[in-house]
Amino acid sequence: MTRKPPRNFGHVPLELVQRYWDSRPCNIRHSPKPVGTREYFDEVEQRKYRVEPHIPAFAEFPRWRGKRVLEVGCGIGTDTINFARHGAWVTAVDLSEKSLEIARQRARVFGLADRIRFVQADAERLSAFVPVEPYDLIYSFGVVHHTPHPERVLAEMRRYAGPDSTLKLMLYHRRSWKVLWIVLRFGGGQFWRLDELVARHSEAQTGCPVTYTFTRDQARQLLAAAGFEVMRAEVEHIFPYRIRDYVQYRYRKVWYFRCLPAPAFRWLEKRFGWHLCITARPAPGLDPRL
Ligand SMILES: C[S@@+](CC[C@H](N)C(=O)[O-])C[C@H]1O[C@@H](n2cnc3c(N)ncnc32)[C@H](O)[C@@H]1O
Repeated sequence: MTRKPPRNFGHVPLELVQRYWDSRPCNIRHSPKPVGTREYFDEVEQRKYRVEPHIPAFAEFPRWRGKRVLEVGCGIGTDTINFARHGAWVTAVDLSEKSLEIARQRARVFGLADRIRFVQADAERLSAFVPVEPYDLIYSFGVVHHTPHPERVLAEMRRYAGPDSTLKLMLYHRRSWKVLWIVLRFGGGQFWRLDELVARHSEAQTGCPVTYTFTRDQARQLLAAAGFEVMRAEVEHIFPYRIRDYVQYRYRKVWYFRCLPAPAFRWLEKRFGWHLCITARPAPGLDPRL
């Protein structure tokens, strides 16, 4: 019996994706301070790594000192700045010009502009925007599931990988607490509408035009098809806070997570977290740049 493939967002025009992220760049409301100031950027970073504390360990910022990092989908540049701060040479691309504007300002504020090259680019056609050459790290956090054709981005990424390159990728996890919560809360349990509901409610601003989710196996297949071999795949991150407090910059957990002992919460996160954090390397074989 053939199983129905997950809903396909391949028909969604990229302009819609760009318009969505331009209208509200990712994490732009992580601080109420004036956008573009040092205080604003410091607060954005504090909040991001407070709510998603697994990111620094996953990115391994200090490991890339003196190395070349290609970041695909940098948003307003929280991780970008940390790669540069730790001494990496970074090429950071994003589709959203509005996000890049803020990221560029961030690099200037922290005196890191000479370490980062920002490029507005569609990652599905990356080589049309960024010269193809090997990078030590290809990094993309929370991006590939938002583009209509994830497999095209992976194929492009493979062209920037030399034999010793590392790929670090975060994809949304299908078998997650967040997916269950969205389907119950917004769809009254209509699991057959899962993909539509998740796309609509996955981000801070409703109506994201493209949000795919992946099981571990689907992620492995996506990477394998592009010539990457998964070395590690870890599931992380359940958002435990009450939204009405969180938007007021208060961190009060919802009652059921307050009742749950920390080890039990951690156990849940490692199985049903929202972030599938993958570390991969090029599979041995033909160099796709040849
Ligand atoms: C959820 S945000 C993540 C941003 C950043 N990585 C972070 O963790 O803060 C997703 C980003 O992917 C970008 N994006 C989506 N599709 C893209 C594409 N085809 N090419 C380049 N960037 C894309 C969006 O513009 C947006 O900035």
